Amino acid sequence: MAFLQVNHIEKHFGSTKVLENISFSMEKGQVLAIIGSSGSGKTTLLRCLNFLETPGSGQIVLNDEVLFDGETYHAISDEEQRKKRLHFGMVFQSFNLFPQYTALQNVTLAPSLQKKQSAEEIDALGKSLLKKVGLENKMDFYPCQLSGGQQQRVAIARALALHPDILCFDEPTSALDPELTGEVLKVIKGLKGGDSTMIIVTHEMEFAKNVADRIIFMADGVIEEEGTPDEIFGNPKSEKIKAFLAKSLETI
Ligand SMILES: Nc1ncnc2c1ncn2[C@@H]1O[C@H](COP(=O)(O)OP(=O)(O)OP(=O)(O)O)[C@@H](O)[C@H]1O
Ligand SMILES: [Mg+2]
Repeated sequence: MAFLQVNHIEKHFGSTKVLENISFSMEKGQVLAIIGSSGSGKTTLLRCLNFLETPGSGQIVLNDEVLFDGETYHAISDEEQRKKRLHFGMVFQSFNLFPQYTALQNVTLAPSLQKKQSAEEIDALGKSLLKKVGLENKMDFYPCQLSGGQQQRVAIARALALHPDILCFDEPTSALDPELTGEVLKVIKGLKGGDSTMIIVTHEMEFAKNVADRIIFMADGVIEEEGTPDEIFGNPKSEKIKAFLAKSLETI
């Protein structure tokens, strides 16, 4: 069985169907890019995986553990929900760092609250993760003293600190000036090949092409097309993806 198996996820907001029959799977260590126009449901899908939204139906199975099953779903306690959420790390477009904490404190806060490791171990983990994202010289800086690209790299280190099974990114560079985009994409690219399994919603087509193992193109709440970067960019089939790719290229 695949590492992550998503079966027939549906999501409505009131009477509006936002996700319809979403099914895909991925293996450990793979990078999946999700592309598609605004409003196609990309963020909602990530939020469903992360239990920030509850799907109306379907199944999410990770590493043989059923995390969600619409058939048997009942409201679960906050504690259970937090546990399930830990499988997925989230990096948002808008960084969402705690302004009152330094870069290092932002990274170590969640592991400290978990109390699974000693303070020394957590401190060492935080420092090694900040080094990994190229911020060893900024550990004691506050978010307001960091550039957008640096803040986003702190957010990546923070997500890694909880050792998620899958790291999810929702347009991690779209709030950044173009000259800062490269440094963040480089860090994400650097995580590939380690033990990170990643799902990346992105508008950066070149990045998706170069880094993803598989690409999902979403349109109007459904997976319109799925394939390798070569298939998606070299031989797109549906009219919707052709139009989307033509429009994306126009803006480059
Ligand atoms: N909380 C909500 N209540 C009602 N409708 C919502 C809610 N969240 C999202 N939607 C609707 O669901 C649809 C999909 O939104 P979503 O944010 O998932 O799109 P997206 O693909 O991430 O778009 P973008 O590229 O602009 O970020 C949109 O039509 C949106 O208006
Ligand atoms: Mg979105």
